[in-house]
Amino acid sequence: MSNFWRNKRICVTGGAGFLGRAVCRLLRERGASDPFVPRSTEYDLTTSESVERLMQDAKPDVVLHLAAEVGGIGANQKRPGRFFYANLAMGMHLTEAARRHNIQKFVQIGTVCGYPKHCPAPFKEEDLWSGYPEETNAPYGVTKRALSVMLESYRAEYGLCGLYLLPVNMYGPHDNFDLETSHVIPALIRKFAAAVANGTGEVVCWGTGRASREFLYVDDAAEGIVLATETLENPEPINLGTGREITIADLASLIAKMVGFDGRIIWDTSRPDGQPRRQLDTARARDRFGWVAKTSLEDGLRRTIAWWRVQAESPLIKCSSH
Ligand SMILES: NC(=O)c1ccc[n+]([C@@H]2O[C@H](COP(=O)([O-])OP(=O)(O)OC[C@H]3O[C@@H](n4cnc5c(N)ncnc54)[C@H](OP(=O)(O)O)[C@@H]3O)[C@@H](O)[C@H]2O)c1
Repeated sequence: MSNFWRNKRICVTGGAGFLGRAVCRLLRERGASDPFVPRSTEYDLTTSESVERLMQDAKPDVVLHLAAEVGGIGANQKRPGRFFYANLAMGMHLTEAARRHNIQKFVQIGTVCGYPKHCPAPFKEEDLWSGYPEETNAPYGVTKRALSVMLESYRAEYGLCGLYLLPVNMYGPHDNFDLETSHVIPALIRKFAAAVANGTGEVVCWGTGRASREFLYVDDAAEGIVLATETLENPEPINLGTGREITIADLASLIAKMVGFDGRIIWDTSRPDGQPRRQLDTARARDRFGWVAKTSLEDGLRRTIAWWRVQAESPLIKCSSH
């Protein structure tokens, strides 16, 4: 329980999304009143008119801006223009509205995709501007990075209290399992589970398998965001991650085993790997507000697979697991 949330009106953009629903659940647990969640059908936050209407309707004291257009490498490659426009427009209009409406605290969710392609691992927040992001996710990553500058300049000129938090790749229940747009973990779970269900002996995965990633369980990310909002007062970028790196090949083997797939994994090297390595330095979050991710990758995957089995059709439910 925290006094911070008491008697505050809270707005969570993207509150019905994958991360957003975990954040809203935790807010309720921590004594916050029901957050106002603007749905995209009612408030298209890429327009300043909708953002203004949202401010009038919700009258928030605190805004957690999680809404975004996101996806895996394939989705980023298909829609680089839209991802750039939508994510920049939403963040820009909301930050400006936060200033005009004297919002007490405005939280912008950034992304690990903003880091330079060849950033030395583990990525430290001070290296965020030391190079251009990996090409497949640069339009998305650059807009998020630009929004951190907007927050810093709005603090300097207008005194806006903004935070900028950078989660690494997340996974967990309610993730996007659409193979056209999903990130790597749901894609692998789905492919291996389908192979088990159909009795297929081979699964084709994107890239070489040699790239590495770090994965944060969604409930841990939500906890980091909520604790940071209660504690912090300025927009210095803060990584949210586990600090544990794993190659995509090892991740695929782990998921295959957990889903019960014992066939061949084939790497389609005509597909991009994306950024070569991803691992965050998580010391700043620990030092500034005492947050450390709790969930091991194995536990998180177990819960994610269990959730997915309930969602999926019957053949998948028959898959064995460890
Ligand atoms: N997923 C990851 O691995 C990851 C990693 C690092 C950072 N992030 C960041 O974390 C945040 C949440 O991502 P997520 O994975 O939870 O995404 P998500 O499940 O796709 O949810 C995004 C939400 O944004 C809302 N939204 C999209 N366009 C909108 C618009 N034009 N107007 C109003 N709302 C709009 C959607 O609302 P409706 O449901 O109403 O359409 C949706 O619920 C994003 O800021 C993302 O950049 C994600």
